[in-house]
Amino acid sequence: MMEKSYIHNGVPWFDQKGETVNAHGVCLLKEGEKYYLFGEYKTDDVNKYIGFSCYSTENLSDWYFEGLALQPQNEGLLGPNRIGERPKVIKNHKTGKFVMLMHTDDLKYMDPCIGLATCDSIDGTFEFQGPLLFNGEPIRRWDLGTFVDEDGTAYLLIHEGDIYRLSDDYLTAVEKVSENIAPGGESPAMFRQDENYFIMFSNKTSWERNDNYYLVAKDLHGPWVNQGLFCPEGSLTYNSQCSFVFSLEAKGKNVPIYMGDRWSFPQQASSATQVWLPITVVGKTCLIPEYWPVWDSETISKVSIEGIEEPLEFQSNKNGESVSYTFNGSQVIVFGTSDCHSGYADFLIYDELGELIHTAVVDFYSLVPDSNSRYVSPKFPTGNYMLKVIVTGTNGVWYKKDGTKFGSDDFYVTLQRVKVCNED
Ligand code: DGJ
Repeated sequence: MMEKSYIHNGVPWFDQKGETVNAHGVCLLKEGEKYYLFGEYKTDDVNKYIGFSCYSTENLSDWYFEGLALQPQNEGLLGPNRIGERPKVIKNHKTGKFVMLMHTDDLKYMDPCIGLATCDSIDGTFEFQGPLLFNGEPIRRWDLGTFVDEDGTAYLLIHEGDIYRLSDDYLTAVEKVSENIAPGGESPAMFRQDENYFIMFSNKTSWERNDNYYLVAKDLHGPWVNQGLFCPEGSLTYNSQCSFVFSLEAKGKNVPIYMGDRWSFPQQASSATQVWLPITVVGKTCLIPEYWPVWDSETISKVSIEGIEEPLEFQSNKNGESVSYTFNGSQVIVFGTSDCHSGYADFLIYDELGELIHTAVVDFYSLVPDSNSRYVSPKFPTGNYMLKVIVTGTNGVWYKKDGTKFGSDDFYVTLQRVKVCNED
């Protein structure tokens, strides 16, 4: 029996239509009984802004695509051929408005600017307002995060570690409360536990993962103390980059949940995935001691999915080579290895009439090898199905601003086994 509140890490998630959840550099908010996820609506080819998506869920497991929260603009900071990244939505309880801050840029990341959009409802269409101003000037920086303190004061977090306090209506920045606390740091994410503020950063390695770290302070003005890594060294933050920390009410307390991106350039829309894990906080230290491929967001515990396991050994780097597996059940989980010699695979599911009912693209690249679940299919009515996995002969390769090459050096797809689950 597949529980409803399970979070699967590092695999594509699917929405109500079976389409890949396309939300990256995300933030999560709870409004009423639902959680709302806002993120970059990515492309699979040219890296450019085509909107920010909004998904809702009641259980952090079944995702409903609400549509684009912010549309591409006809001109300006989020017009054609621009970058839009890391939308962060905060609710202003005084004005009742939802405020979205984001990174806008040109396609070469040479024209960064923090943008502002607003909306009267969490699931409505946001209206782009232009740059967020500080002392009447745009903030010309890129990676950002937001943090709302217990008293409702909101903060804008910037790469390298600048922190701005926002005005009461959240529509301007009014005070720079800290500056340059994390030189070289990107993708800031903050949370508070009791009297301590924690802020996480990645290092600058473009779409590649690295060992993220954190600082702690009792006051947002500092002093900030660098506490080092919060995941085991060399795990590259379990192959992810921090984006947001959500305070989840579970087991009668607030549990900070790390939310990170496992990027997959260039096929981000199809294959970039999420890594969400609970953070253990003890005093001034925070830690994610272990990678949980799947865990229960109600009990905050690692779980194992019930099902029947069978070997499905396959390894190939030849474009078009494939392996098939027929099963009777309602869901299939495929386990395999990702490493720096691997590429993309097409995953196809056919029903017993031979009709193609589901497709996904899975990235087998990771700098640090990882043998875990690579694909968790949507749930289907119990029946007979065929899974087909095809080597695409493509892989993730990209370059940093300074020309450094990143990504895979081959096209391997490596599988070990499958697990078939049955809802009945
Ligand atoms: C790292 C940033 O954290 C991402 O949001 C994105 O801008 C990439 N760089 C682009 O290379």
